Amino acid sequence: MLVFAKIKSVQQKISLLNKSTSIGFVPTMGALHRGHLSLIEKAKKENDLVVVSIFINPTQFDKQEDLINYPKTIDTDLSLLKSVFCDIVFAPSAQEIYSNDIKSQSFDYDGLEFQMEGKFRDGHFNGVGTIVKRLFEIVKPHKAYFGEKDFQQLQIIKKMVQNHQIPVKVIGCEIYREPDGLAMSSRNIRLTNEHRVAAPFIYKTLKRAKIEFGIKSARDVVNWVENEFKKQPLLELEYFEIADEETLQTIKNRSPKQKYRAFIAVFAGEIRLIDNISL
Ligand code: PAJ
Repeated sequence: MLVFAKIKSVQQKISLLNKSTSIGFVPTMGALHRGHLSLIEKAKKENDLVVVSIFINPTQFDKQEDLINYPKTIDTDLSLLKSVFCDIVFAPSAQEIYSNDIKSQSFDYDGLEFQMEGKFRDGHFNGVGTIVKRLFEIVKPHKAYFGEKDFQQLQIIKKMVQNHQIPVKVIGCEIYREPDGLAMSSRNIRLTNEHRVAAPFIYKTLKRAKIEFGIKSARDVVNWVENEFKKQPLLELEYFEIADEETLQTIKNRSPKQKYRAFIAVFAGEIRLIDNISL
């Protein structure tokens, strides 16, 4: 496994590859867990070579303290990457990516950016677009893998690739969960013991909401979920929304032709957790 910190060196390595070598790319912010590794394993199966980036992207954090507290576990990350036979790791510094100008480009994602996470995390998706576009330009992958855990991010990247005509196929990967159903996340290790015990309630409720959606109106399902969370002193619901999978617009007139997904954001103490389920 080769590890590069400089843009020039990773680009040089990639440019020396045989033109027929297919490159799969998995961008990450490190603090890797089984969820990330499942993306890498999929990329390994579908490509000749896999590049993983580790970069805690400052421009996508709306709160400075989140950026400072983001777990940094580069040594364990590298051993995990070796264990799944990752070929190339690109782990640049912020200076290498942004020079001295740490700011985002502004993106138009046809309205996807104003839904859900966009309402609560100011500038977040401009930051994500800025770094992912830059990484695509550096790595020039054939396929890039993103988790459905961050479903809005996945749709936004697909939109960016389409709008900017970037020649990469964006592939969504299923949410990888703990045995008790909690979606794996780099933030889970920051949960207190009691919040960790309470957190599986999020996915349990999503699964029940899916069943309720089969027999109730969307409005009733939303009310039902909001009530369920009122009974949970350790978990504070930020939002629960049922939205169209493509446009991410909140469901209005339910149509059997549309695909819907339920999205949720919850505070477990200080830690904000997100999850979603297809309905
Ligand atoms: P990060 O949170 O490190 O996640 C990297 C990728 O792993 C994302 O595509 C995310 O959706 C996926 N992922 C995380 N947890 C997952 C799980 N439990 N199951 C399946 N996939 C999971 O997302 C980012 O980094 C950044 O925004 C990034 C795209 C790297 C841009 O900075």
